[in-house]
Parts: sequence; C-alpha cells; structure tokens
Amino acid sequence: MIVAPKIRGFICTTAHPTGCAKHVAEQIAVVKSRGPIANGPKKVLVVGASTGYGLSSRIAAAFGSGAATMGVFFEKPGEPERCGTAGWYNSAAFETEAKAAGLYARSFNGDAFSDAMKATVIEAIKADLGQVDCVIYSLASPRRTHPKSGEVFKSVLKPIGSASYTNKNLNTGNGVVNEVTIEPANEDEIAQTVAVMGGEDWEMWIDALQSAGVLAEGVQTVAYSYIGPEVTWPIYKNGTIGRAKEDLERVQRVLDGKLASLKGKAWVSVNKALVTQASSAIPVVPLYISLLYKAMKAEGSHEDCIEQMDRLFRERLYNGNPQPDEAGRIRVDDWEMKPALQELVGKRWAEVNTENLAQLGDFEGYQTSFLRLFGFGLDGVDYNAEVDVSIGVPSLA
Ligand code: NAI
Repeated sequence: MIVAPKIRGFICTTAHPTGCAKHVAEQIAVVKSRGPIANGPKKVLVVGASTGYGLSSRIAAAFGSGAATMGVFFEKPGEPERCGTAGWYNSAAFETEAKAAGLYARSFNGDAFSDAMKATVIEAIKADLGQVDCVIYSLASPRRTHPKSGEVFKSVLKPIGSASYTNKNLNTGNGVVNEVTIEPANEDEIAQTVAVMGGEDWEMWIDALQSAGVLAEGVQTVAYSYIGPEVTWPIYKNGTIGRAKEDLERVQRVLDGKLASLKGKAWVSVNKALVTQASSAIPVVPLYISLLYKAMKAEGSHEDCIEQMDRLFRERLYNGNPQPDEAGRIRVDDWEMKPALQELVGKRWAEVNTENLAQLGDFEGYQTSFLRLFGFGLDGVDYNAEVDVSIGVPSLA
C-alpha cells in the first residue's frame, strides 16, 4: 500500500510503518549519542509502551542502560489493505532494533486495566526475567473498564467549578486561533476521570507485581504528570485531569509505604508539555505548545519525549540525585517552567491571533511533530513507495 496521512480532527487514522521505524531509530540514536546510563535499570516493565512518553522510556532504558524490557500497550495491528496504529509499528520497530542489539524485548497488546493482562505479564516476568527493577506507568486513555466491578469509566477534559471557561484555542488543522468555551464538569464526570487517569490502576499493578514477588529489591516505579503554566490551569491542573493527577500523587505516597520493605521508591515525574496523541486532544494546550516550542527552540532548550526520558533516567532516577520538589515530585518540566521563559510565553499568549501565530508560535513545528507521531515527514523515507502495512510485532507473532 502507499500510505498518506488522513487527519480527522486531532487524530491521524493512518500510520506509516517505515516512518514509524525511522522515528524509533532516531530516538535510539539520541540515547546512544549520550553514551551509556551508568547504574541504570536492567529489567524494566513499561505500561503504555508504544507511543509518547512510554515508548521513549522504553527506548531510554533499553538503549541507554542495556535493559531487558517488557512493554504493554493497546494498539491495532495492520491488515493487508488497512493500516495498523502508529504504536503497533513503533513496537515492531523497537523489538527489531532491540533484537539486533542483543536486548531482550517482549510486548503485550491488550487492556492494561484488566486483571488478565496483569496476570499474563506477571507469568512472563517469572518465566523470562525473574523480577523487574523498574516499572514505568505511562497510560493515557479515554476510558477504563474497572477490573472488579466491570463498570466503564470515561474521562473528560473539563474545568471544575460553577462557571464555564473560555480561552484561546488553536484549530490544529488550519492554524486558526479562535476561542473555546467549555462547561464545567459535574461530580460524576470528575469521579470518572479520576477512575480512568488517577492512580488506582497504577496501585493495582504494583500490588499485583509485589504480591507475586516479581519486584526486585530497590525497585523504582514512576508515573507521569503535568502541571504547566497558569493559562492552562483551568483546563489542566485545576480541571478534571488535574484531579486525576492529584490522585496519582496520593497513590505515589501509598506506594512509597508499600515498597519500603523492598527499599523501593515510587515517583511522580512532572514532564514537559509535548505533542503526543494524548495531548493533542486537550483544548487550549496545543496553542500553548506552539508558543512554548517557539520560545524553547529559540533558546536551544527544546526537548522531545526522548530527550525528556533520557534526562529522567540519566540525571534524576539513576544518578542518586533525583532533585524532588517540595511535594516530592521529580521535575523534568524544569526547563519549560523557567520564569523568564514562562514570562515570554505568557506575553505572547496575550498577543497571539491567527495572523501573528507564525511569528509568535511554532505552528509548523506543531504540525511536523504531530505528523511524525504517525510516521510521516521523516527524512529518508520514500512516501511514494509501496509499504507492507501488515507487519507484525515479533514477540506477538
Ligand atoms: P500517548 O497517547 O502517546 O501514550 C499512551 C499509551 O498508553 C500508549 O502506549 C497506548 O497504547 C497506551 N494505552 C492506552 N490505553 C491502554 C489500555 N487500556 N491498555 C494498555 N495500554 C493502553 O500519551 P502520552 O502523552 O505519552 O501520555 C503518557 C502519560 O504522560 C500520561 O499519564 C500523560 O498524562 C503524561 N504526560 C503527558 C504530557 C504531554 O504533554 N504529552 C506531559 C506530561 C505528562
């Protein structure tokens, strides 16, 4: 098949296998160029391993630290005349590269929220690795079926409070800066969002792994969060998703207690705002990201998922100096949140409109990053060539 991007709103319904493989290869090259991560993890489980921060975590662990990795994700394989999802092709490429480098890699495609997936992964750890010394929790999902009650929860991205929220917004399809008004969430929507994106499932994973005896002494587990600047707070930090992230922090403290007997540690790492499949669905955030990219690229501090995750492993989790903030969180959003940079972005936020977006923001960079998530726009890939879209993930064959 010849594969071109087909964009519907904030998703792309096609993905390019060769382009995704190139995207993975470029990320591996970034990690390798920085040399080995001394004292890094050796046996790593990544839940949400196929795209965004989870994929980059898996790459940093494997190619920075020589780790054996298990990855869990929910992706669609391709068929002869129908594209699979980008995360499927990323995982196929990751495993191929890992194998070529002599690294163990095994993947699991299915619902990470289920008891069955947890049991399957635990059996695989017992059989292949014995124990894991690092568990990365990087799920982003719009819904969760609760494993005990069977109830289906749906997350919403809404403000909390009595008033509706209006702010600038970017139509990422055509570059028009308009306004969006979002009605506040009700109590049920808040609770459902916490049930999907909060910490309960992270705790269930760690409980299951710990009681099966497959967590090594000194294990570290990390879940990802975001805080961001005040312009995004009504929709993010103080909104429904922010409540879920507060719950993640609650669970981090609970897990710290549970892992004490193993001399283990649970972390919440606050990461930078980046274009991923999950973040492109959040109102307001893509406009902020466009302004942020422009300012960070200009000062030379821009990072993508791979640079963020490499820095997390190399300079926080495994160098004995995690530099937690007052709430005990790791902050790799430190460069994004530098006061002078935020002041500049805030000033531009007040000024930005459709006409000056190209000067004040990096809309082109936003779109390029978005397409790259699906394997489009990568150097050296012949997009006019026929490509097999039904390739498999080796360990799932
Ligand atoms: P993403 O959409 O790129 O990745 C989500 C991953 O979860 C994929 O591997 C997907 O297959 C997997 N997944 C979703 N539902 C699943 C299920 N039921 N079972 C198994 N796997 C499932 O998202 P992204 O942006 O990398 O987000 C990961 C975490 O990082 C989230 O907690 C997010 O809030 C956080 N974060 C994201 C930031 C951003 O700007 N993108 C900033 C800071 C934190």
